[in-house]
Amino acid sequence: MIRVAIIGATGYTGSESINLLLRHSEAKLTYLSASRKETLSLASVHPQLTGRCELDIEPLDFDKLAECADVALCCLPHKVSMEFVPKMLALGLKVVDFSADYRLKDIAVYEEFYVKHTDIDNIAKAVYGLPELNREKIKNAQLVANPGCFPTSSTLALAPAVKAGLINTETIIVNSVSGTTGAGKKLADGMHHPNMNENLRSYAIGSHRHTPEMQQLVNDISGKQDAKVLFQPHIGPYDRGILSSIYCDMSKDISGDALVELYHEFYKDEPFVKIVAEPPSVKNVAYTNYCHIMPAIVKGRIVLFSAIDNMGKGASSQAIQNMNIMFGLEETLGLL
Ligand SMILES: NC(=O)c1ccc[n+]([C@@H]2O[C@H](COP(=O)([O-])OP(=O)(O)OC[C@H]3O[C@@H](n4cnc5c(N)ncnc54)[C@H](OP(=O)(O)O)[C@@H]3O)[C@@H](O)[C@H]2O)c1
Repeated sequence: MIRVAIIGATGYTGSESINLLLRHSEAKLTYLSASRKETLSLASVHPQLTGRCELDIEPLDFDKLAECADVALCCLPHKVSMEFVPKMLALGLKVVDFSADYRLKDIAVYEEFYVKHTDIDNIAKAVYGLPELNREKIKNAQLVANPGCFPTSSTLALAPAVKAGLINTETIIVNSVSGTTGAGKKLADGMHHPNMNENLRSYAIGSHRHTPEMQQLVNDISGKQDAKVLFQPHIGPYDRGILSSIYCDMSKDISGDALVELYHEFYKDEPFVKIVAEPPSVKNVAYTNYCHIMPAIVKGRIVLFSAIDNMGKGASSQAIQNMNIMFGLEETLGLL
């Protein structure tokens, strides 16, 4: 039985991870922690978990953590993660980090979009945790950088076309809508009910932090260094899910049928990526680790539609998929 700690247990992805792990047959929650100085009962923070787990959420104690856990799911914001992760690695724990701190390989790019990096040594050690692209490396990783939610949705859709050299990687447009859980639990004016209910808006125009992550992934897949992604996120009046519509200029001719066949072939052995015949929707993937993709050719362009649950395949269930791989377990355990 794998012993799992959740660091950041008071947050959205923390509670999602707890909920999933309570149903995992080979993993046991042994430690929950957040930033508070006092101990909190789990039910007082997440009433939906009342009576389902005996653990409290405790102030972080690294010695106790090392004693009672084999792996930490680190559900913390960027900057905070890189303060804690090196200590966990030094104690011999495996770590799946949810933040952006270990995703970008180019430190200058990380520092342009986030903050000064304080744990540069461990960036090289981190394996980017998109199992569909990096499964073999994840198997032996001590530190997995769990992908961002938007990059998960867009990269799974782009990968087959990029790999086959079908698209111009310098002119990709990714247009995505996320539900409000994507913003985490912190309070913000724009997220209040009157500002979100019956509303839909774009944000971070030309500057979203997931843009360099998407470009890094496209470059990794293409083997070139020319990716330019125009990424435009939107936030919509629903809880969970990301729908991405991706527009690509073609660099090779292919028929619509052949494109669909290529996508089926690329993902034929993947348990969590499904090629669908109708436009995907966030409701069809809510509370799951699935990604639904529909590729099409529209007016001479390749257009890709992709839906995931930002809290699922975009965060917690993908982290558990990674954890399963790191520990040599059946990859789908606890996720079907
Ligand atoms: N939400 C999503 O859909 C999603 C998707 C993919 C990736 N992510 C990433 O996952 C991470 C967590 O996101 P979230 O949405 O779960 O955030 P959240 O709801 O805001 O929760 C953040 C958690 O981090 C803890 N924390 C904050 N500052 C801390 C500090 N200085 N020391 C210790 N703990 C601290 C908070 O504890 P307190 O309650 O004690 O402050 C809370 O448990 C972020 O890096 C986010 O970018 C989120």
